[in-house]
Parts: sequence; C-alpha cells; structure tokens
Amino acid sequence: MVFLVLLQLLWLTIALASSTAKHDCLDQCGDVTIPYPFGTGDPACSINGFKLTCNHSLDPHKLLVGNNIEVLDISLRGRLHIAGWMASDCYSSSPNVVTGTNLSINFTGSPYTFSNTGNKFTAIGCDTNASIGHSELISRCASNCTNKKRLIDGSCSGIRCCQTSIPRGIKDLSVTLRSLDNHSQASPCSYAFLVDEDYSTFDPSLIYRQDLSENNVPILPIALDWAMSNVTCDEAQRNSTTYACRQNSNCVDSTNGPGYRCYCNHGYDGNPYLKNGCKDVDECTHNPNLCNEGICENTEGSYKCICPEGTHGDGYRCKAKQFPTIQVVLGVCLGFLFLLVCGFWIHWGLRKKKLIKLKEKFFQQNGGLLLQQQISFHERATETTKIFTEEELKRATDNYNDSRIIGRGGYGTVYKGVLSDHRIVAIKKSRVADGIQIDQFINEISILLQINHRNVVKLLGCCLETQVPLLVYQFVSNGTLFHHVHDEGHASSISWENRLRIAAEAAGALAYLHSATSFPIIHRDVKSTNILLDDNYTAKVSDFGASKLVPLDCTQITTLVQGTLGYLDPEYFQTSQLTEKSDVYSFGVVLAELLTGVKPVSFERSENERNLSMYFISSMKENRLFQILEQRVVDEGGTEQIYAVANLAKRCLRMRGEERPMMKEVAAELDGLRRLEVHPWIEQNQEESEYFLGGPSGLNSINQGAGKYSLEAQDVSIELEIGR
Ligand SMILES: *[C@@H]1O[C@H](CO)[C@@H](O)[C@H](O)[C@H]1NC(C)=O
Ligand SMILES: *[C@@H]1O[C@H](CO)[C@@H](O)[C@H](O)[C@H]1NC(C)=O
Ligand SMILES: *[C@@H]1O[C@H](CO)[C@@H](O)[C@H](O)[C@H]1NC(C)=O
Repeated sequence: MVFLVLLQLLWLTIALASSTAKHDCLDQCGDVTIPYPFGTGDPACSINGFKLTCNHSLDPHKLLVGNNIEVLDISLRGRLHIAGWMASDCYSSSPNVVTGTNLSINFTGSPYTFSNTGNKFTAIGCDTNASIGHSELISRCASNCTNKKRLIDGSCSGIRCCQTSIPRGIKDLSVTLRSLDNHSQASPCSYAFLVDEDYSTFDPSLIYRQDLSENNVPILPIALDWAMSNVTCDEAQRNSTTYACRQNSNCVDSTNGPGYRCYCNHGYDGNPYLKNGCKDVDECTHNPNLCNEGICENTEGSYKCICPEGTHGDGYRCKAKQFPTIQVVLGVCLGFLFLLVCGFWIHWGLRKKKLIKLKEKFFQQNGGLLLQQQISFHERATETTKIFTEEELKRATDNYNDSRIIGRGGYGTVYKGVLSDHRIVAIKKSRVADGIQIDQFINEISILLQINHRNVVKLLGCCLETQVPLLVYQFVSNGTLFHHVHDEGHASSISWENRLRIAAEAAGALAYLHSATSFPIIHRDVKSTNILLDDNYTAKVSDFGASKLVPLDCTQITTLVQGTLGYLDPEYFQTSQLTEKSDVYSFGVVLAELLTGVKPVSFERSENERNLSMYFISSMKENRLFQILEQRVVDEGGTEQIYAVANLAKRCLRMRGEERPMMKEVAAELDGLRRLEVHPWIEQNQEESEYFLGGPSGLNSINQGAGKYSLEAQDVSIELEIGR
C-alpha cells in the first residue's frame, strides 16, 4: 500500500516536472527543475527576465542566475533559492592585517527581490557591527561578547550573534562589517550573511574554526521572491498580450516589491504560465477516502461524492452514519420521563387504593354494610337518606372549623354545615370511634331511618368513610328546650301555651316511637337537652344514640343501665329492665321542668329535694305546688290546667313503671289540655271536642287525671344515686 502511494507520488512528480517546462525546452539542470517562465538557452523557452544559464561543464550541472550565482531550487509559488555566502572581516595582529570577503549581490532590473519574510540577516562575532546598504543604511545588527558567554548552538540572541529581518523590496544586497577595536576581543573574525530562516542546519560554531576557508564555508541559501513584470494584476490583465496567467489560473499581486504571480485555480494543479498548464486534479485518486463511504466522482476543477443510502453528505463528503446522539438522548429522556410518570401514577394509584381500602375499612368498621342493608330494607328512606362522602362534609363544615361547632357532649361534637345545595344541616361527629359509640351511631341511624315524624329530628344521611362516623341531620335552628327553660337570660322565655304545645309534641313523638313504628323504640335518653326547638318553637326529639328497638313480642328487655342523671327511671336503674315506661318517667321530669323552670338536678336544693322528680312530688304532696312553679306558668296557665299537667307529671314519675301511664295516653292528655287552652269554648260543645280529641276517651282521661291528682301523689321515696 505504502509502496503504491510512493509510486503514485513519484509518477505525479514526474508528470508535474514534465509539464512545467515549455515544450522542447530544458526542464532540468543538475538537481534543479526549471519551470516555465524560467528557461535556458532559446529565449522562447523563458519569459523575458527569467532566462537562466545551465553550466554543463560543471559536474553536476549548475543552474546560474545573474552574475554566476548558483540557483538551488525554483518554486512556481514565487520562491527561488540561491547559494549565498558570508561576508567576513578578520584581523590578524602579528602581520597586523585585516582580511575579509564581501557580500554584494545586485538584482536591480531583474524579477528577483530578497525575501523579507523568508530571510534573516545574521551577524556572528564579538565587537561586530554589521549593516546592509551602501550609502543609505537599510538594516543593522550588532553583537558583542562582553559577558563572555559561549555562543549557544543555533540560538542568536545578541551575545556573539545577532539577527534581524530586512525590509521588503530589497533588490540590491550589500553587507558592510565594522569593528570598533580591531577584534581585540575573543574572536578575531566577524561574519555576516543573509540566510533562509528555515535553513537550520547552519552551525554558528563553524565560525570559530580556524580552518574556515573557501572549501569548507557552508552554503547559505538565500530566499528570493520573484514576480512577473513590475505592474499589478489589474494593470497586467488590461494588456492581454503580456498577461502571463493562462486558463484556470488567477492572478495575485506580489507582496514584496512590484509585480504579480499566477496560481492555478482550486481544483487544478500545474503550471499557470503554460497554455493548458493548470490541469484538473483528480481528487478522487489523490485521496481515496475523500468521500468516506461514498463513491467519489471527479469533475472538471472539482469532484463530487455519491453517498450511499443512510449516509448524508454535502456533496464533497459523505458522513458516515452518525451515531444518533440526539435521538438516543431524547429516547432516554422520554423513557425516563415515562418511567417517572408511571412510577408516580402507580404510587398515586396505590395510595388511592390504600385510601379507598381505609375508607372501606372505616365503612365496615362503622357498620356501613349493616346500614346499607337497612337503607335498602327501608326503601322509603332511600329517597331521603343519603350516604355522604367525606369530602362533601369536609366542605360543608369548612374542614370542621371550630366556629361551626353548635354543640358538644359526651357523644362527640355537632357542627353546623352548609351542603352544596345550600341546605343547612347539623353534622354529628363521634368523639372517638370506640365500639360502643359506633354501635350507638348505627343504632341511631337505623332507628331514625324508620322514623318519619314531624316532631323527630330528620336524619338526612351519614358518612362512614371517616374513622369516626358522621351523621347528617336536619338543622334545628333554635337550640334545645333546656337552653330555653334554664339558661341564663332565657328563663321564662316560653309562654305557657308554647310549653304545653312543646310537651304535647314531644309526647306525641315519643308515643309514636313507642307504638307507631314497626318495632317499638325506647328513646332511653329523654331530657330537655334532647328536645330541640325550631324558630316556631316546634319540638323535635333528637339523639337516638341510646335508643333501643324492642322486638314486638317482648315488652321489656334487659340492658346496661344508660341515661342521664336526673331523668333516669329509678326502677330501670334498679332492675336493668328497660320498658317504654322508662321514657315516660323521663318525660315526667321534662314536664316538671316545664312547670317549675328548675333543673332536674340541683345541688342548691336540700339533699332530699336535690332531684327534681322528688322535689316536685314532695311539693305536690305537701300541697305547695304553686310555690315551686315558675311565675310565668302561674300567670298564664289556668289553675285547673296547671293541676292537670302537674298531675300528669306526677303520674309519669311514679316509682313503679306499670303504674305510669302509657306515652300514648300522656300525649293524648296533653293534646286535650292544649286544645282546651286554645279553645276555651270547647267545654260548651261536646261534639266538636270529641271530634278534636279523636274520641271521648281522651277527654275522659283528662277529666280523670284532673280529678285524681291529689290521691295519687304518694309512694315516691326512692333515692336515686347515679354517678356519685
Ligand atoms: C562553466 O564553469 C566553468 C568553471 O567555472 C567556466 O570555466 C565556464 O566558462 C563556464 N561555462 C559557461 C557556459 O558559463
Ligand atoms: C546595481 O545594478 C544597477 C543596474 O544594473 C546599477 O544601476 C547599480 O548602480 C548597481 N548597484 C551597485 C551598488 O553597484
Ligand atoms: C587597527 O588596525 C589598523 C590597520 O592595521 C590600524 O591602522 C588601526 O590603528 C588599528 N586600530 C586599533 C584601535 O588598534
């Protein structure tokens, strides 16, 4: 392969050489190739001024220029080297003579100019003062040996050697050497010469050899620039007969003195001064890898690459199929992004699943399944009852904001909420989700689901997804009965008429619970705080957390005693036997509260009277009922009516449950009393009163009750001690 390339190069040189001289002209003298416009012999072989002589009598033949100066090489790119020599100035003290050689070359009037860029004017020696120029100083260089350092090989830094460049345009070289004190210093000789700066083989130490003579003086090549004519390209092109540049060439002005030179155009090679001298270069052959993997095709002055499929090129080069960095990076990035998104999505999914599971767990833990069953069982309820989502209620209560709390108790907290449909609701949140309370919640839900009564708080729905189940009720705006009867600033705020109506409504609701639903329901926690009032003072019985459904075939069930101090049925407390009559007892306390405006338990009263039920009964027994009644009741209620209600309360508060009236009776009696109060004329119209009271039996019971109250105020002597 290497051999092949060498062969090719050799052939190329021969071809170039053969094509550089004019036809039938000498193209070689010794080692030197003579390209046209240079030539020897026949003037037609050269352009005027470029005639050289070849001395064939010398061996080897020597090409000579000017005054027999040897030409070392000629380049068509405007460079030519001649063999120069050195000027010397030596002093010998014993015969006291100065000997020396001159260096003076005169190219005035010829195409040659000493190259200002390719040469260096060099002087060697101590006490040396060298200059170029005759009368007029052109360039100067001085060296001395004051610090006695030896000349360092090849370097020329001012000590024993100095170097300087020459100005452009010098055609006439004349070197002068001067010594100030006859070379009395170390070296007896000074030398100066112009030399091609690339001529690095010159060894300055030669200078110190005493046997330096004509024979062993080294050849010092001097670079000359040559140019055509003494005009610029523009001027030359105007005169086409003398214009030297041929086809496929271009003209460049000389940078060193006047004249111009010709160069083959890009893609051509050869001699621009010859006709057809600039030949198309076969780039494809010269550089087989020019097109990389493509197929190279030479064209006149250029080449082109036919690139194979999959590569791309600009016509002058086929680029190997590039590693698709951008695509790969993009792919990796996209992949990474995809993984990230996937990961995130999976994470999110898992979290959501976990959350759903948790919600499901809560749902089950909160008896959701049971509730769902119940809801589907009570188809009527499904229309009005709804299972709310956690988010819905969170939004409704402003994330359970403290400002929304409307009630707090042992059971938990009640928040006021506004649903998305602007309905105002009360949301009951259990304090802790312990088993008992969950059961109570579920119990309450399932009971309320079966109740549809205007005096019972309506359950709108529930939420079981949270750790603590939430119940959503109709919002009852006006607070509890307890609040209106007992709280400061509210005492005596309810009229007798309203008290009677509230009592009647509450009794009606309880009676409905005891009898009207498919299973009797015992409220178990009847008290004034569980009777809510709306803006019209309409009673709404609430809080069915402790309520019990009683199977139809049982009249009593055994349970853990549960209730509120002051309202708790003493019989139930002692026997744990729960019957409807327990509610009757508790309602009796509420009636007593309505009459007296006194709290069910007050430690301000004496020990025996601490409990309202006992206080009330003992007061009646001692015939001082009117002393304990609230003033407004005394003022507004008819004596007979008050006695009737008080007597009813007393009957409700009987120690033995079976002696207490049924809730239905209580409700009917209160209803009757109320109507009497509303329509005082009713006594005169028996028929209408029957119609109003739903039968004479109702009226009878009122009469009975009113008549018997004093007889039955007895046997109340049980000490109730709960929570002490
Ligand atoms: C060639 O060189 C020789 C020796 O220097 C000299 O005698 C002779 O005249 C030269 N010939 C020509 C043609 O210059
Ligand atoms: C150089 O040659 C030219 C003409 O050939 C002449 O006029 C000039 O005086 C010469 N210079 C020296 C220094 O001899
Ligand atoms: C140098 O040598 C020349 C000629 O021999 C002599 O005339 C001159 O006086 C010398 N100069 C010095 C400084 O020695």
